[in-house]
Amino acid sequence: MAILPLEEINNVRMHADIVEVISSYIPLMHKGKNYFGVCPFHEDHSPSMSVSAEKQIYKCFSCGAAGNVITFVQNYENVSFLEAVDILAKRYGITLSNAINIKQNDKNTRYYDMMDLAQKFFQNNLKTELGIQAREYLQQRGLDKNAIAEFGIGLTLTDRQMLYRLLKSKKYTEKEMDDVALVNTHDSPYDYFVNRIMFPLHDPNGHIVGFSGRVYYESEAAKYVNTRETIIFKKGQILFNYHRAKPFIRNEKAVILVEGYMDAIRLYINGVKNILAIMGTSLTKDQIVLLKKLNAKVVLCLDNDSAGQKAIYDIGQLLKKDNFEIEVIKLSGAKDPDEYILKNGIEAFQKNLKEPLKYFDFSLNYLKQNKNLEQAVDLVNYINDVLLDIAFEQDPLLIDVTLKKLATDYNLEYDMLKEKLQNITANKNNAEKTEFKVESEIALKKQVKNNTYQVACKKLLFYMINEAKYIRIYQDNLVFLDNLNFREIAKAIIYYYESNKTISMADFLTYASTNERFYPEVLDIINEGSEEQLDENVFMDYLNSIQKGNKQKTIKELKQSLKEELDKNKKIEIAMQIAELKKGSV
Ligand code: UTP
Ligand code: MN
Repeated sequence: MAILPLEEINNVRMHADIVEVISSYIPLMHKGKNYFGVCPFHEDHSPSMSVSAEKQIYKCFSCGAAGNVITFVQNYENVSFLEAVDILAKRYGITLSNAINIKQNDKNTRYYDMMDLAQKFFQNNLKTELGIQAREYLQQRGLDKNAIAEFGIGLTLTDRQMLYRLLKSKKYTEKEMDDVALVNTHDSPYDYFVNRIMFPLHDPNGHIVGFSGRVYYESEAAKYVNTRETIIFKKGQILFNYHRAKPFIRNEKAVILVEGYMDAIRLYINGVKNILAIMGTSLTKDQIVLLKKLNAKVVLCLDNDSAGQKAIYDIGQLLKKDNFEIEVIKLSGAKDPDEYILKNGIEAFQKNLKEPLKYFDFSLNYLKQNKNLEQAVDLVNYINDVLLDIAFEQDPLLIDVTLKKLATDYNLEYDMLKEKLQNITANKNNAEKTEFKVESEIALKKQVKNNTYQVACKKLLFYMINEAKYIRIYQDNLVFLDNLNFREIAKAIIYYYESNKTISMADFLTYASTNERFYPEVLDIINEGSEEQLDENVFMDYLNSIQKGNKQKTIKELKQSLKEELDKNKKIEIAMQIAELKKGSV
């Protein structure tokens, strides 16, 4: 934290209203004293994050995330603490004294630099004489110089040690090269990628973290080879084109999902920039969390084959649980969006984009696939599938219209369908309730296990973080906390208060966040802290139960030494001490 004085950080924190900032990322609902939203930091289905305008902090009841406006931006944008301060300062027009040095030295910097170097090297290969065939291939696929430059596309050649030699000359160690899977260093070192067209893959912050290499000539080999999982590359945690598309997605409030790199590139270079590729046909939990951060409706535009259609259905089912608005576009006469646009032009695609199918309607149709609805068994299965789907819908009109349509289309009793749906809905709600009950029971058990002493310590510290008065009472009473971590936090609170002459939870969090040792505990304290108004009597109760706990512990220790002591006089002395303590006069 040496780069920016605490006062400057606190000044930014004060200007950046937490409700205003968080609601620019996720929708917040006003309920009572607080605001609530769906937590972006875990796979959340109901609004478990509360934001307090009064205290200027947020906390999630479910995953325990907590913090102030700066840590929210830090975690949401995946940036360092100081970068988050910088983002907020810019947004609120505050000039910082040391804005240039804010880009923090990431522990992965050397890896990222190595990936950048490799990417530039690959890109240059493409321009050499040995790159003719690859250049022709790209040209024939309709990727011009601009597209190649924009997406940083490159080429690896057949010499298996080219990149190795370059990295070595730049003083990277073999271990570092192997860590990011650019070079295999088991026997004699050789480059991981050879003779492929190289697509750089970025993490959500725009760092190159991996590559995908495509064959560009007749070959039996896999079409694409991706970097294996490394310290910086986890395929399930990225979405292709995320860092480029993010601002456009926020702007349009819509994100189009396609399967392949080429689909995404084709759309992007044709001006449809709110586009991401899922790099296959499935979506991981982490990728869903990334999508959630975009706060946009999802438009699924996958390949036209049966795998693609199944993927639309499956992904839709996943996204539905997270209350995404989901639409589907179907492109006919081409195997994928790339081919469709090459054949019919971008205008034809735009036209499809304007007339999307609701996911609900897509799935009604999809569920009919491979069923012969003339046959009773298939029909029953179909109706059951549809009812299960409808049970998730919120709109009563849509539900009713669908039931009526099913009744007429298949000559069924409307009342019977309605009753069946009600049963499903009731079962579903029960299941959800049970799930919730189990969760809260676990939470309760945890609390009981957390003995009263611990709880009292945490509450005590919570009060102190909130109001200076309690710091003074704490000091006046010479409270001893029988836990090193708690003692350190108490010391930090006092130090903070004495150097700033004031204390607030939101600002103390900033200060605490620089201390890796006790920061998680501080978050815990804030998270468990009561929602009610602070009450001095309650504080005194906590304080007393801590003192009592300390006393009991001392008595226990004294009793132990009484047992072990051989000297008669000393024994008497200890016994008297115990009696004193029990009487209450310490
Ligand atoms: P596709 O086979 O549809 O690829 O796979 P594509 O993007 O249309 O590629 P072109 O047009 O033939 O060049 C969709 C995505 O699945 C992943 C890639 O991310 C690809 O873009 N994939 C596919 C692999 O990772 N490995 C493979 O061997 C194939
Ligand atoms: Mn394709």
